[in-house]
Amino acid sequence: MAVVTIVGAGVIGVSWARLFGAAGWEVRVSDPRPDLRDLVARELADLPVTALPDLAEAATGTDFVQEAGPERIEVKEQMFATLAAHTADGVVLASSSSSLVPSLIARGNPAADRIVIGHPFNPPELMPLVEVVPGPKTSGRTADRAVEVYRELGKLPVRLKKEIPGFVGNRLQKVFNDQAAYLIQQGVIDVEDLDDLVRASLGLRWATVGPFESGVLGGGPGGMRHLTEHVGSQLDFETGTPDRARMGEVLDAVEQAYGTGEPAYERLAALRDGRTRAVLEPLGWTGPASGDGGRA
Ligand SMILES: NC(=O)c1ccc[n+]([C@@H]2O[C@H](COP(=O)([O-])OP(=O)(O)OC[C@H]3O[C@@H](n4cnc5c(N)ncnc54)[C@H](O)[C@@H]3O)[C@@H](O)[C@H]2O)c1
Repeated sequence: MAVVTIVGAGVIGVSWARLFGAAGWEVRVSDPRPDLRDLVARELADLPVTALPDLAEAATGTDFVQEAGPERIEVKEQMFATLAAHTADGVVLASSSSSLVPSLIARGNPAADRIVIGHPFNPPELMPLVEVVPGPKTSGRTADRAVEVYRELGKLPVRLKKEIPGFVGNRLQKVFNDQAAYLIQQGVIDVEDLDDLVRASLGLRWATVGPFESGVLGGGPGGMRHLTEHVGSQLDFETGTPDRARMGEVLDAVEQAYGTGEPAYERLAALRDGRTRAVLEPLGWTGPASGDGGRA
């Protein structure tokens, strides 16, 4: 049975552990949190998962590493130094980082050729995408193996041609979320109405076609060129940026709309997971043709 080491047992690490465990991997989870064993017993029961707080021990003899520790470069550098020292040549060291480029994480690391980003969308056990981002020192073999593993897990690995902070998914998300915060600050719309607006339009659209494909369709038989030259030519306005000093107002409004704490989190996560599961199969993300979501 192949062995995977998951580093970090937070939101993302626990979900990766479920995914690898359900796919038949023997899973080791490493995290210094004092409740690690309880967490594994509670969240990952019935799966082949072992809690190993000591990272060196968890890394020794493993076949693949999926790091999901804190998003702080000094912590990642230290974790990857330990991983480099305690894993065999050829073992892929993948980081779930949402934005830190691999060249930064691999700075001064003797195993830089084995370090790659394998960035999931939350929750990794359900969302098909994993962005595979090689750094300048990442070997082709490392990126190939990461793609192969994610594909075996039933994911859609998308390999970037080169690193860029935030990669592609979170660069797009940042622009979008900044505009959403700006619209709240400007008093144009409320939090829940904005979420409804997106769910009923862009969200549903982008679950079925990507933005370029949508551009092709929006132009009719004239395609995206027609759309760009006609409707698109009128979308000529400044979009503005949110006032960072006033982000507290936006966060207050979000908390008022959805609540905070464990009960609110559990309720919203269950709603999201149920809805996500309901659309994965009809959209072609599960079953025999899985892997490309039924691409045209
Ligand atoms: N939350 C998201 O939506 C999301 C999505 C995609 C990727 N990511 C990335 O995944 C990673 C984890 O994010 P998260 O949201 O699960 O964070 P989190 O705060 O929920 O979990 C981080 C875990 O790392 C543990 N940790 C701290 N020091 C450690 C160490 N030295 N060794 C091992 N574990 C240690 C903490 O105890 C904690 O359990 C980050 O790099 C983040 O950018 C997050």
